[in-house]
Amino acid sequence: MSNRAKRIFVLTGAGVSAESGLGTFRDRDGLWARYDPMKLATPAAFARTPREVHAFYNARRAALLRAEPNAAHQALARLEAGLADRGGELFLCTQNIDDLHERAGSRQIVHMHGELLKARCTACKTVNVWRDDLNVTDSCPACQRTGTLRPHVVWFGETPFHLKAINAALLGSDLFVAIGTSGAVYPAAGLVEDANRAGIRTCEINLEPSANAHSFDEARYGPASEAVPNWVAAV
Ligand code: APR
Repeated sequence: MSNRAKRIFVLTGAGVSAESGLGTFRDRDGLWARYDPMKLATPAAFARTPREVHAFYNARRAALLRAEPNAAHQALARLEAGLADRGGELFLCTQNIDDLHERAGSRQIVHMHGELLKARCTACKTVNVWRDDLNVTDSCPACQRTGTLRPHVVWFGETPFHLKAINAALLGSDLFVAIGTSGAVYPAAGLVEDANRAGIRTCEINLEPSANAHSFDEARYGPASEAVPNWVAAV
């Protein structure tokens, strides 16, 4: 029986979209080096200054619509199809709020930090696809209330989405791979320890060693657009 992994859990972070031109957060020129997350990515910030928060996400949404998936996104879409062909499965859990995995052809994706191209109504809780600017003057397509829409993204202090499904998929996998993430934000950063405790092989693919690089069995370093296709070709 080859020891080729059949059920792979991949966790991606901003590094997988860096070469598509979307900023990372904690690199030197990252978003949190230029903006204060406590003023733009918390529920209190949105309550206090909704127009500033909307402007921040409107700029990122416009940048996303101009961006394209890169070779790393495309390689992960190929891996999902290849694993399915051999009776395996790829569980793609992303911290990213962009839709580049979708546009590259990945099908089973879990956005644990939400999605930039969706808006949620704080009154009726409906989630709508939203590709334009979002402002306090907009009305909810479902309940028609005005001023109740927010980006459908997870802010600091809020609970990430789909944690039960993520944990079940992790424990059912035989390989955990973290790609393009600094290992700075929990619970995503704790998944590698959960994998280690469950005896699941772990691999990090990143531009440079992450904060929890020591927790991984194996590591491949380099730009995601090269390191991910090379890894997919070998796995
Ligand atoms: N190829 C591969 N990795 C890269 C590249 C690249 N071209 N460029 C940067 N990286 C790596 C960096 O070395 C870093 O380890 O990607 C990682 C990006 O880390 P962060 O900027 O912290 O992004 P991420 O880990 O996704 O942040 C997690 O923090 O602010 C929250 O909600 C936000 O989802 C985000 C979470």
